[in-house]
Amino acid sequence: MARIAVIYYSATGNVHRLAHAVTEGAEAAGSEVRLRHVAETAPEEAIAQNADWAAHRTAMDDDPVASLDDLEWCDAYILGTPTRFGNVAAQLKQFMDTTGPLWGAGKLADKVAAGFTSSQNAHGGQESTLLALYNTTHHWGAIIAAPGYTDPRVFEGGGNPYGASAVDGTTEGELTAARYVGERVATIADRLAA
Ligand SMILES: Cc1cc2nc3c(=O)[nH]c(=O)nc-3n(C[C@H](O)[C@H](O)[C@H](O)COP(=O)(O)O)c2cc1C
Repeated sequence: MARIAVIYYSATGNVHRLAHAVTEGAEAAGSEVRLRHVAETAPEEAIAQNADWAAHRTAMDDDPVASLDDLEWCDAYILGTPTRFGNVAAQLKQFMDTTGPLWGAGKLADKVAAGFTSSQNAHGGQESTLLALYNTTHHWGAIIAAPGYTDPRVFEGGGNPYGASAVDGTTEGELTAARYVGERVATIADRLAA
């Protein structure tokens, strides 16, 4: 049974929904999952200017805050972020940038990894965000288990081979593809352990 950490940031709920779908897929495949969100780092005045952001502020509180122990504990991790100008959100990056000591001790190597993202526009940078996320996981020595086109469910989510993704609103098809990403990471982590 693979141990999987699903770690995400979400300002207005889309990535939050994807995170729960990824978790469902991994759990359905028999994994033990720690579902975690990273801490908010944006100034309160910026949050207050966006009604959706302010409303969603506490919705993630049901999921505990991510810690380095979650990354050390897991056999595989799946990281989620909204697209921010085609890039990883600073909140998730901030968490990733605290992993130096774990990385230096070799504790991030050989783990299976994948990512998920959400954007306002279908061509607004989902792929670049996922690839930017994987820049860091390459340095960690991850074994990236992107979905590719390995299952018809990928097409239900828009056909993104780099990871799970959604456009604002998050369709049921996108959630189905996200469940598949969770299932695929779990399956590959199990195979690797065997
Ligand atoms: C500062 C900022 C930058 C953004 N950059 C992009 C972008 O490059 N492309 C895009 O399609 N959407 C962009 N968006 C929109 C978000 O990525 C999108 O609404 C996403 O689904 C939000 O996810 P969340 O609901 O989990 O926070 C941006 C939003 C903000 C606040």
